[in-house]
Amino acid sequence: MRKLKVMSVFGTRPEAIKMAPVVLELKKYSQIESVVAVTAQHREMLDQVLKLFNIHPDFDLNIMSEGQTLFDITSRALLGLDKVLTAANPDVVLVHGDTTTTFAGALAAYYHQIEVGHVEAGLRTQNKFSPYPEEMNRRLTGALADLNFAPTSTAKENLLREGVDANKIFVTGNTVIDALYQTVRADFEFKHVDITKKVILVTTHRRENLGEPMRQVYKALKSIVEEFPDVEIIFPVHKNPKVREVVNEELGKLDRVCLIDPLDYEPFANLMNKATLILTDSGGVQEEAPALGKPVLVLRDTTERPEAVDAGTVKLIGTNQDTVYESAKILLTNPDEYKKMAEARSPYGDGHAAERIVKALLWRHKILNAPPREFTN
Ligand code: UD1
Ligand code: UDP
Repeated sequence: MRKLKVMSVFGTRPEAIKMAPVVLELKKYSQIESVVAVTAQHREMLDQVLKLFNIHPDFDLNIMSEGQTLFDITSRALLGLDKVLTAANPDVVLVHGDTTTTFAGALAAYYHQIEVGHVEAGLRTQNKFSPYPEEMNRRLTGALADLNFAPTSTAKENLLREGVDANKIFVTGNTVIDALYQTVRADFEFKHVDITKKVILVTTHRRENLGEPMRQVYKALKSIVEEFPDVEIIFPVHKNPKVREVVNEELGKLDRVCLIDPLDYEPFANLMNKATLILTDSGGVQEEAPALGKPVLVLRDTTERPEAVDAGTVKLIGTNQDTVYESAKILLTNPDEYKKMAEARSPYGDGHAAERIVKALLWRHKILNAPPREFTN
């Protein structure tokens, strides 16, 4: 019997973390030939994930350049993927989420008239510039997708509202929870991080926060660390030079502020599990931290992930200096407020998302005779 040839296309750290469980699951089926193509929109931050999950890409476009623009990424990925798709000719291309690699991957597959499966489909803020350019990357990918793997029922409802055929949507849970459950261990030993105090873990990278919004956040962090001697900030700084410059200016020489390179996923996920509080503008961290019972203050004005806000573990606070300072201070000084946010809930997944995605794919291709049971949150 001819195998179903499935090509997974990804390029950045979060896509790799969230596609790794899918790639590992695809390998389990003798009816599937799994091929991996990375754009390498990220380089070091991608490679550490590939190594952790032991994934060896069949194609690597190596497109990253320092300070790359959206035009650089889109055009290099699109031209590179044209050649890859011609060479491999898969039956299905799987893309993930909302990066520029995602959109270029879906567009390249569509130009080749190859079926597109969109993992983590249907998240929306309804604001085309927030997050930028992710909201439009996700919507445009959705317009090209033949199969939509929605992580939650809210994401499915967004797609139904846009007129997507219900038969083409599967609620699967988010694969980030699969990856997290495979990675966090109570007895994890840290090699490069010293945890002696209450840890506030911080990450920032969103394009719409570059410059002044990030500066405001860092000024608020400076006030917090100066006011609370029992607090230490651990801040793995994103590789983007535009992020690093402002971080170094505002937080470069402070006691109990530990600026480090991005951590590999394994220590990072385990550090989340040890943190007291997390401040971030990351999408993935908003999904992971609630599953570990860690309060998250989201440094953004909008979120396409309302489930954890509704569950009470995540608060959307924006980037205003006073608001960031006050919000963090409340959680450090008011145990009742802290407790309310620190209950472990996992509205994003149960650790079986990849299994559902691959089963849904096999069912659509008449290799399995029943679809998987959907994730309910
Ligand atoms: C990208 C995605 C964003 C995603 C984020 C996750 C787009 C437009 N943006 O944003 O959706 O949330 O990744 O982190 O798709 N760099 C390195 N080494 C690396 C990675 C990045 O040096 O391993 C530096 C390079 O100078 C690069 C810059 O960071 O040019 C920015 O990378 P880029 O992928 O363009 O944007 P991100 O902000 O990382
Ligand atoms: N992460 C990591 N090391 C770090 C910071 C984050 O491995 O130093 C992981 C994090 O656990 C999550 C993912 O990277 O799974 C989120 O990536 P990022 O914030 O870059 O992108 P986003 O999720 O916002 O697209």
